[in-house]
Amino acid sequence: MRHPSYTGVLLAFLGLALSLHNLLSIFLIMVPITVALLHRMNVEEQALLRALGERYTSYMARTKRLCHFCIDRPVYGGAAPHWRAASRCARVWPMECPFNQEREPQYYGDYLGIDRLLELQKPLSLREGKLIAHDEMLFIIVHQAYELWFKQIRHELEACGEVLSKPAADDDGPDMNVVVHRLKRIVEIWKLLNHQVDVLETMTPLDFLEFRELLHGASGFQSKQFRQIEAALGLRMENRFRPEYYKHTELGGFNKSDFEQVSEFEKAPSLLQMVERWLARAPFFDQSFWSEWEEAQNGAGAAERPAFWSRYRELFAGSLSERDDRADLLGKFDDIFFGQGWGDFSAAALRSALFIMLYRDEPLFRLPFALLNALIEIDEQLATFRYRHLQMVRRMIGTRVGTGGSSGEQYLQGAVNKNYVFKELAGVITFLIERRNLPALPDRLHKALRFSWAEA
Ligand code: HEM
Repeated sequence: MRHPSYTGVLLAFLGLALSLHNLLSIFLIMVPITVALLHRMNVEEQALLRALGERYTSYMARTKRLCHFCIDRPVYGGAAPHWRAASRCARVWPMECPFNQEREPQYYGDYLGIDRLLELQKPLSLREGKLIAHDEMLFIIVHQAYELWFKQIRHELEACGEVLSKPAADDDGPDMNVVVHRLKRIVEIWKLLNHQVDVLETMTPLDFLEFRELLHGASGFQSKQFRQIEAALGLRMENRFRPEYYKHTELGGFNKSDFEQVSEFEKAPSLLQMVERWLARAPFFDQSFWSEWEEAQNGAGAAERPAFWSRYRELFAGSLSERDDRADLLGKFDDIFFGQGWGDFSAAALRSALFIMLYRDEPLFRLPFALLNALIEIDEQLATFRYRHLQMVRRMIGTRVGTGGSSGEQYLQGAVNKNYVFKELAGVITFLIERRNLPALPDRLHKALRFSWAEA
């Protein structure tokens, strides 16, 4: 039975009523007590249903309320809501109706935690129920909206990391498709975030000055999630502009717990590292694909590098204009693709990236190309955010120092120029040549890059 204590209470009152040997007192004692307890049970059961859902529904189905022999019918027709929904369904749609499932229905506001969410805007200029600086509400809401979207971006990056950290992700199948899909979503979110600057810019500098002094010590510098996104993408500390500015726990820097969390986060493998590994292990430079090509080229340059790349270097040199710095670019070509690599990318990884970009129309390269493109686009959107944010800052505070203690405009301009994550990947584009001049691929490789059913 589900309410043994109420059964006990009812029995105790029944004993009292019987001891009075009077029908009227039995009626006067038992009726109000029973009605009150049944109401109470109903309230409790609704709450339990909301909290426990199906587990409590099945418990209700197995047990009686007050005793094994009682008729178990809730008062006010107050059956659990899904029972009502189920019977409605059974009448109208006997099959495949979502209401037929024994599931606790949700309520919009509860599911989304709207009341709690709307409690979270606490302007500092709110005094005795009056918001002194009207635009502080906008300032808070825009920042909170950013943080919510940052959470979604982190969620997507985490999912991409799970796939890419597998020892052998399915390169041309669902695995990579999912990664590309999620990265494209991140691009769209950044576009939205960049557009949000327009909304905040409806606040004038004078409106901002009404509450700016209250923010002393607080700054976007301290956005833990922003730093986590930068780190998850692969922006290393030493590659940033003036990292010492924000990576501290003095006034304007992180609090201790955020500092530790960000530092911990920076140790995990980044998207850049995973992509680098994935590119470096690409199998399309296996000697088996290239032997016929090497023979046709009479083994030209075979000692130094595969014949394909020697030929490609010539074609690249031929594609340069008179105004290009030939020696510099060819030197870079050798360094980047056959020397030490570039930034955090090895030469092998960058060769693969270049090859994928060149032969992107081959069916099996479409996903890898979409992946590289999405990474470059994320970087571009992030840079757009930095730039839009810088312009907004100029407009709001001119060249004054930031509330986080940096030089403000100057610092932000430095970050715009320097804090790119995939700039070397984007830099590969410098070494592309016209599609019409591309060497034809060896037959074996060409076939391997088609979907297998195309050969049938
Ligand atoms: C009135 C609007 C804003 C002003 C005047 C402003 C000002 C500044 C300034 C001066 C800095 C440099 C650090 C400092 O010394 O404080 C900064 C950094 C930053 N702000 Fe804002 N900000 C505004 C709105 C926003 C919004 C809406 C966001 C969205 C989350 C944001 C995110 C950031 C981030 C992430 C940084 C660190 C940038 C980096 O280190 O690359 N800011 N902000």
